[in-house]
Amino acid sequence: MGRNKINGETKIPQHIAIIMDGNGRWAKKRLMPRSFGHKKGMERMIGLMEHAFDLGVPYVTVYALSTENLTRPEEELNGLYDLIRNHFEGYMDRFCEKGVRLRIIGETHRLPADVQEIIARVEEKTKGCVGKGVNVALCYGSRAEIVRAVNLAVEQGKTVTEADVSSLLYTAGQPDPDLMIRTGKEIRLSNFLLWQSAYAELYFSDKMFPDFSDKDLEKAIVWFSSRTRRFGKTDEQVECLH
Ligand code: IPE
Ligand code: IPE
Ligand code: MG
Repeated sequence: MGRNKINGETKIPQHIAIIMDGNGRWAKKRLMPRSFGHKKGMERMIGLMEHAFDLGVPYVTVYALSTENLTRPEEELNGLYDLIRNHFEGYMDRFCEKGVRLRIIGETHRLPADVQEIIARVEEKTKGCVGKGVNVALCYGSRAEIVRAVNLAVEQGKTVTEADVSSLLYTAGQPDPDLMIRTGKEIRLSNFLLWQSAYAELYFSDKMFPDFSDKDLEKAIVWFSSRTRRFGKTDEQVECLH
């Protein structure tokens, strides 16, 4: 029973990245439109992030829309934008009250103008917050993010180090994700945080995202805590460090 419980010994990740997949299939199973799945997914996203902060996780990044998702039917995309228009600011105010900085990462200039305005407003409200952060990836693609960083470095006439590249990504200044969770049964990264997740522990859940509960998050954290993170070293070397 106690196996999935978080206790004082549990190592809490400093940054959890979540690929929220399965909203469409969740809705289809219930004979509902995909947009209903996205609404449930958004509500679950907020609940999960709040729970993560309550557990002491300082950074959470959620994959809400990929650049590749822009090829989906216009109706579905408009439904997603409507969710942002109608709910995003209200939900994000809750994080603002908790001192969490909100960043939207991705090619946000490709979003509708009014959605961009909402995003800018929410980011502005929380820009003074330090130490805790939520990144919502919208129109995000990891390869594009890396190419952007490289081009910024070229503009600066630099020969870059790894630290330079990290500092030119959207996630500059934040710890790399140490736990990456993907729901929805697929075992792939779909162009999400490829650079930042170089050493993340990868956790895949068969549950569709709207069904991924706070308890499921705790289970993933307990699993994370049980991993031996060697970073290339041997077990013996790792034991010496502890
Ligand atoms: C993930 O759920 C959310 C977005 C990509 C916006 P999907 O919409 O991919 O759901 P499935 O994979 O079709 O079930
Ligand atoms: C990944 O899910 C993107 C998000 C969760 C926003 P997809 O459903 O788009 O991924 P693929 O296309 O199955 O790889
Ligand atoms: Mg999907």
